Amino acid sequence: MEEIVNKYQVSIDLLNDAVRREIATAMQYIYFHIRLEDAGYEYVARYMHKVAIDEMRHSEHLAERILFLGGDVDLNPVEPTRQLHEVEAMFDFAKRLETSTIDNYNAWAKRCAEAGDTVTQRLFQELAAEEEEHQDNFDKELQNMMNYGTLYLTMQSMGHSKSLAKK
Ligand SMILES: [Fe+2]
Ligand SMILES: [Fe+2]
Repeated sequence: MEEIVNKYQVSIDLLNDAVRREIATAMQYIYFHIRLEDAGYEYVARYMHKVAIDEMRHSEHLAERILFLGGDVDLNPVEPTRQLHEVEAMFDFAKRLETSTIDNYNAWAKRCAEAGDTVTQRLFQELAAEEEEHQDNFDKELQNMMNYGTLYLTMQSMGHSKSLAKK
């Protein structure tokens, strides 16, 4: 008997790699978020939370596409969470995560196109555009930290105290 092969298997495998990566990234950013919040760095903490939610939304879109193509979803994170405590190290790592995700999604969009799946190609392209925004914002934060040193983060703590006093 002939084996039934899903003609979208190339896409399904790439989409699952992407889901596992998005989940790992979301968990990593939640870890950074709780650390930053605990340290009182209100604004960077909030931004990190927002990006974590973006990555969760990405994983959901990818998962929906996998089911649509008749595959099954692998939700196991591709990497364990790194327990980084230093703020600059967090942002440097986050920026590098975004860069490699952009590289992957660009390459994977091309492979999906080659396999004749332009809808998944477009999904990877759309996600790559959002990851570029993340990367750019992480880079700007990192630049501010390098330019203004601890003052930049200290001012965020002051802002936090100010908002607490108003409550
Ligand atoms: Fe993402
Ligand atoms: Fe991202």
